[in-house]
Amino acid sequence: MERGNFGSKIGAVLASAGSAVGLGNIWRFPMECGSNGGAAFILIYLLCVFFLAMPVMVAEFVIGRSSRSNAVGSYRVLAPGKPWVVSGFMGVLAGFLVLSYYSVVAGWTLDYTFESLTGSLMSESDFGRFFSDFVSNPWRPVIFLSLFLLLTHCVVATGVEKGIERYSKIMMPMLLVIILILAGFSMFMPNAIEGVRFLLTPDFSKVTKDVVLSAMGQAFFSLSVGMGTLATYASYFNKETKLLPSAIGVCTIDTLVAISAGFIIFPAVFSVGVSADSGPGLVFITLPYVFQEAFGSVPVFEYAFSGLFYILLLLAALTSSISMHEISTAYIHETFKLSRPKAATIVTVICLVMGVACSLSFGVWKDVTVMGRGFFDLFDFITAKFLMPLGGLLICTFVGWDMNKKLVAAELDSRFTSLLMILFSWVAPIGIGIIFVYGLISG
Ligand code: PHE
Repeated sequence: MERGNFGSKIGAVLASAGSAVGLGNIWRFPMECGSNGGAAFILIYLLCVFFLAMPVMVAEFVIGRSSRSNAVGSYRVLAPGKPWVVSGFMGVLAGFLVLSYYSVVAGWTLDYTFESLTGSLMSESDFGRFFSDFVSNPWRPVIFLSLFLLLTHCVVATGVEKGIERYSKIMMPMLLVIILILAGFSMFMPNAIEGVRFLLTPDFSKVTKDVVLSAMGQAFFSLSVGMGTLATYASYFNKETKLLPSAIGVCTIDTLVAISAGFIIFPAVFSVGVSADSGPGLVFITLPYVFQEAFGSVPVFEYAFSGLFYILLLLAALTSSISMHEISTAYIHETFKLSRPKAATIVTVICLVMGVACSLSFGVWKDVTVMGRGFFDLFDFITAKFLMPLGGLLICTFVGWDMNKKLVAAELDSRFTSLLMILFSWVAPIGIGIIFVYGLISG
């Protein structure tokens, strides 16, 4: 079967960075950081990125590029008949679950884009009430969620290579600049220093096993690792793309965006007196206050800036959702020999149904719970704290212990190969395993 390719090395890095940078950085990171004690969480998060998630990313790149196949097919090529393929199936399942609840938040972003551009967001005075009225409405979020999924569907169905690559190159730098400007504004809001202190002064008394599990889950989620997304993308990399430098580049961009998002949100949180641990609404409630504070005297700027910000957030979400969709679409397309649009339609319909359930869990289905959680929280919990770390553990173990050593070395083509092998075989699996088991026991 004819397979796509990213045209250039920089395109491959930016497409992977496009997958990594998304709502996870700007929406989920501040939320997790806020509910897990701030600076101490960030420190643990950074350790998890460097020692656990980055090795998994490199391992995924190795698996994807050497097999030139999808998340499940790659194990059939590299380890035929062995049980590793389970990890591929877990990835496909995770892809469905993540995309379903991710599209809900992306739908909120789409709504906020419209509300900003038409000016109706700015006419509000209580953004907290505005947000809770909106998400608990049974229709409006569902409509925006469907629109967002449709958008994702269209890109994936038509084939992504040129599209994603081309616009990742323009969008990622733009997003970075806007974020830096906003962080600048946020830090000059009254009482902002409290937020900076929250981000920079670690309070280790708040660190529990569950905080460590959350930090690891966030690292995996934010870097899109542990479910075969990046293995699927790497199967489109060309031979010249250097895997380790690419992974370092993606991790650096992703971490910078997440930390900067913290510097937008928390100074503003403390300035406007929202609680730091107010959960999923954090970005949608506090950011409008930042826009109001920063540009309120010139309404045109307020519209333009918040409109621009939400558009960029939306595009960042889109490059991530495309990559989640791609895991399952590539698998169905290549395994069942269905056309790409047909495979994509199956994925979209399933995610739409599950997405609606997630969206309703903020309103009419608030009381429908499984294991004590509504669908939205449940899908987030299963993927970030369970499927992704476990998937990451299997991926590293496979590359470290079972995959042909010569092939791994040839793919890596790096002077750090032996160091990486230690990370794959020992550090990452043991680290992930310990945090996972202790986190779950205490949780
Ligand atoms: N990394 C993406 C983000 O930060 C989310 C994602 C998770 C994308 C898993 C692909 C796979 O928003």
